[in-house]
Amino acid sequence: MIAHFRRFLMTRRGALTGLALLGLATPALAQNFPSKPITLIVPFAAGGPSDVIARLLGEHMGRTLGQQVVVENIAGAGGTAGAKRLVSAEADGHTVLIHHLALAAAPALYSNLGYDTSTAFAPVGLVNTGPMVIAGKLALPPVDGKAFFPYAKQQAEKLTVAHAGVGSNAHLCAVLISQALGVKLAQVAYRGTGPAMNDLVGGQVDVLCDQSTTAVPQIQSDKIRAYAVTSPERLGVLPNVPTSREAGTEIDMTIWHGLYAPKGTPAAALDKLNGALQAALKDPAVLERFKAVGTSAFPTAEWTREAHGKRFAAEVAKWGAALKAAGLTPQNAN
Ligand code: MLT
Repeated sequence: MIAHFRRFLMTRRGALTGLALLGLATPALAQNFPSKPITLIVPFAAGGPSDVIARLLGEHMGRTLGQQVVVENIAGAGGTAGAKRLVSAEADGHTVLIHHLALAAAPALYSNLGYDTSTAFAPVGLVNTGPMVIAGKLALPPVDGKAFFPYAKQQAEKLTVAHAGVGSNAHLCAVLISQALGVKLAQVAYRGTGPAMNDLVGGQVDVLCDQSTTAVPQIQSDKIRAYAVTSPERLGVLPNVPTSREAGTEIDMTIWHGLYAPKGTPAAALDKLNGALQAALKDPAVLERFKAVGTSAFPTAEWTREAHGKRFAAEVAKWGAALKAAGLTPQNAN
């Protein structure tokens, strides 16, 4: 019996299970964390705002943690495919997801998520927050925000609006524009706003409401035309672009990203990840990059895992109620 138990402990799986039975596994594993490269899932295509923020953070966090952070783009279904992938990963801290308010909005828009949004994720920390920018291809007739909204209303379904799948920020922004104007616009779904932006620059699609992170560089290099920002104030990096209210149709939308691990990830691993995230957010070089694209870190009081958990729970409730009130369901989200 004792010999059998010893043999059991000699195998790798048996050793871990045996230690867990003795209550020793979690602290030992967490102490060695991370013991291999960390996968950072981006639930949208490469080149989009989630990808840009993930690569900036991942590189910095990897240096702090002494292990490479490898970005993996798992796009599809408005960011829910990447979320599903995280939920099925081992809960040891070596797989992390970057996501934004679409993670909180998804339960109101998808009936078959395959996970419970309120319990499936362990919040690691809040990353950045900023506005969206409503922009058009250069060939679109309106030359400014004031002219854009009446034009969009008059064009209605003749106007193509790109987004990153149902529930993505770009989609929710398109829905807000539609509702404000009281018309249906022609939505075109992509696997992320990276490819959607390429098509806006190329003129294959008319309009995209994208996060400032990837919209600002294209606007500054005159590849697309900005009509309005969705924040109450103008953006410092786009001083000539009006707020949507100034442009005559108020679209109020602020996005935010956070990092998540699967539920059940040991607290010590979550704390190390949060520490590495905080180190990145303290770095003036990272903050400079954020500022250059019109996004910001959260106030330091909100850098804890607890603050992220609180915000996430509040956003799930908020988006559930808001989308219900707007009459948006899994059946009619397009
Ligand atoms: C992306 O990275 O493609 C975006 O975060 C998608 C979106 O939500 O608009």
